This record gives sequence, C-alpha cells and structure tokens, in this order.
Amino acid sequence: MEKFVINGGRKLSGEVNISGAKNSAVAIIPATILVDGVCTIENVPNIKDVRLLNDILIKLGIKIDYDEVSDIIVVDSEKINSYIVPYDLVKCMRASYYLLGALLGRFKKAEVSFPGGCDFGYRPIDQHIKGFEALGAKVEIDQGMIKMYAERLIGCQIYLDVVSVGATINLMLAAVKAEGTTILENAAKEPHVVDVANFLNAMGANIKGAGTDIIKIKGVESLKGGVTHSIIPDQIEVGTYMIAAAVTKSDITIKNVIPKHMESLIAKLIEMNVKVIEGEDTIRIIGNDELTNVNIKTLPYPGFPTDLHPQASVLLCLANGISIITEGVWDSRFQYVDELKRMGANIKVEGRVSIIEGKNKFSGAPVKATDLRAGAALVIAGLVAEGTTEIYNINFIDRGYENFQSKLRSLGADIVRVPE
Ligand code: EPU
Repeated sequence: MEKFVINGGRKLSGEVNISGAKNSAVAIIPATILVDGVCTIENVPNIKDVRLLNDILIKLGIKIDYDEVSDIIVVDSEKINSYIVPYDLVKCMRASYYLLGALLGRFKKAEVSFPGGCDFGYRPIDQHIKGFEALGAKVEIDQGMIKMYAERLIGCQIYLDVVSVGATINLMLAAVKAEGTTILENAAKEPHVVDVANFLNAMGANIKGAGTDIIKIKGVESLKGGVTHSIIPDQIEVGTYMIAAAVTKSDITIKNVIPKHMESLIAKLIEMNVKVIEGEDTIRIIGNDELTNVNIKTLPYPGFPTDLHPQASVLLCLANGISIITEGVWDSRFQYVDELKRMGANIKVEGRVSIIEGKNKFSGAPVKATDLRAGAALVIAGLVAEGTTEIYNINFIDRGYENFQSKLRSLGADIVRVPE
C-alpha cells in the first residue's frame, strides 16, 4: 500500500495534458465484445479500472495488446470463449456491469456477478435489468450472479425512470444487434454516452440521438472491426485540475480538453471570480484571492457533475461567506466531509445538502480517501494546506486518475507517493 505526502502552499504553473475519459474507456472496452474483428482504441487512460477490465476480457479468451506508453489498446474478441464472469473478477470493478449488456448482445446470454465495491452508498441497477427484460431477456439472480438468457433480443421502447448513465450505455450495448428498433427515453446525455455511440457506429451500428434524451438504436446483424476510435478527454480530470488551480490561486493551462463539456464548471468558476480562458482545446485558469460564495446543485449532464462535487467543496471552503451544495445524483456522497473537517473545513451536512462556511484555512493532516473523487478532493486540499498532508487509501485515486502525482509535480506541486 502506498500513500501521498503533500507539502502544501505551493502555487501551480505551466501546462497539464488530460488523458482519455475513464467512464468512456470502461464502457468502450467491454463494447469490443460485440465486434467481429479487431478494434483499435486510442487515448486509453492508463488507470487501474482499465487494467482490471483488460484482465477480465483476457480471462474470457479475448486477445488484448495494450501499449501503455502510447495509450493504445488493440482488442480482438473473435476467440471469446465464455459469457460467465465470476465474482473474483468483478469484485473491485463497479463498471463491470457493462459486461452484462455486451455479453447479452453477443451471446444472447450472460452470467455476471453483481458488481462489487460500492464506494458511496446504494447503487441500484434496476433500470439496466428492466431494459434487458424489455428486450426479451429472462433475468434471474442466483448466488450473487445476474444470469440472463434470451431466445431473441427484440427492439422495443424503454423509458428510464431515472436518468442513468450506466443503464443508457448498457441498453445501447444490448440493443445494438437486436432485431428491430429500440427507443431509449429519458436517456443520459453525458459526453461518454455519445463517445460509446460513436464507437459503436464506427463499427457499423445504427444509433441516432446519443447526447439527447431520446436514443434510437436500429439493430444491425453484425459489427465489423478494422476501425480506430480515439476516446474523448476526461471531463472530470479536466475539472479536477481546473479546481486545483482555482484553490491554489494559480495560473495553469489544461490541454486536450473539449471546453464545451466543462460549461457548468466554467460558469461556476466565473461566478466565483476565477478567470477562465477557453481555447479551441485548452482551458486556462487564473486564480483569484477573493472568491465569491456560490451554490451548486449536481445533476445529470449538462448539469454540474456529481463527480466534481467533493473537489468543488474544497474550493467553496475558501470562498467568502456561506455556500451550499445539493447532491442531486447520489443518495450519499458526503463521506469525504469528515476527512476534510480534519483539515479544518467547516461543513455541515443535512441529508443531501452541505452547508459550507467559507474563508477557511486548511492545515495538513493524515486523511484517508473514501472513494475516487473524495481522494482527489483531499489531494486538492493538501495542495493549499499549511504543512504536510498524508493521504491514505490512494488505491481509490489510482482507479481513475492517470499519473496524478506526476502531473501535479510537473505543475510544481510538492507531492510524492511513498510506501505506507
Ligand atoms: N440509478 C437507479 N437505478 C439504476 C441505475 C441508476 O436508481 O438502475 C440511480 C443511481 O442510484 C443514481 C442515479 O440513478 O442515483 C445515477 O446513476 P448512474 O446509473 O448514472 O450512475 P452509474 O452509471 O453507476 C456513472 C459513473 C459515476 C458517476 C455517475 C453519475 C461510470 C463507470 N460511473 O455511474 O462515476 O458518478 O455515472 O454521473 O461511468 C466516478 O467516476 O467517480 C463515478 C462514480
């Protein structure tokens, strides 16, 4: 086990390059199961979740060549020989639920253990299951496994009761080779939903409307390989560096960005008095000593992303006055608050709302990451804290941030990774 040790108080400067989106990669890699032929995927983030997924696919008989230096994966699923994914393979991997849709689409059957490792509260997959059943699958839960069998998968209309990224993508995967047309209503609009649809379309799928709340999927007989797809930049990684710059009152340029994906955060930063300069594929942040307090409500895209909530909280601790964050996506995303309080934050949580009293100073302390984004928030607090912060459980952070400490070091932060 390793930990981060951060000596706070240094300003950041220079440029940082953003990696491919984790939440696209963890869907596109399983999506290759549906393809007859070789897929080349570029801009794959070198993170733990991707390495875990690759291992799962290899165990199913899929050939994977992963060049970790160029961030390219070449996948050949022709020799896939199993539709069964037991618990020991998925226990550390929430996004393993995409194997359900992909295996069902390929074999019309799938047996996948319930995804493990919930890091913040109750995470149901009832909307995924409802959709698979509507497409014609019989679904049974047996000894912790979700077992699905379909004689035929037949296109249908599915209304999602909640806007779910996972259910939207999973049902696209299951429907892409179904007979007839599937219409997903109340679909999620996140950039990675569009990225997965673009990947599938490049392989021969017929998906229209991704990025809107109605997606039409006309089933095709097969998906062909031979195509190269490049994963979009990670919107949450971009936001994390934007907030890190604002917290440390620094001037940095973030490269390989789609600024349009960042609108909700850009709007909040401007409201807070932070200068944001958008380029074609860059964002420059120039911090400000006086930060205005704001209220934030997290919502599905294009709303403010829940995956930037803990990081934004750190920034609001430094603003003038009281700010409020309302968590609009997850029931329980406030585990980071107790850790942040150990560093001096003044935050009160009531249900899904946190009340943040600003103008705080952070002081370094030993703290532990309680999930991926909570870990990122603690790192950001450590960058501005007086003294030394030690962050434990950084395996959570490794799940989703490529080279976090080296990228921060290249911006001038004093952060090292050492054995616990
Ligand atoms: N929900 C249901 N039923 C379902 C599915 C979801 O009630 O069948 C509810 C959830 O309980 C939640 C809301 O719908 O309240 C949204 O959940 P969603 O399905 O959109 O989340 P997810 O697909 O499981 C992805 C990301 C999360 C991110 C959420 C929301 C991946 C692998 N994970 O999760 O990312 O928080 O969307 O944007 O794509 C992260 O990257 O740190 C992370 C947790």
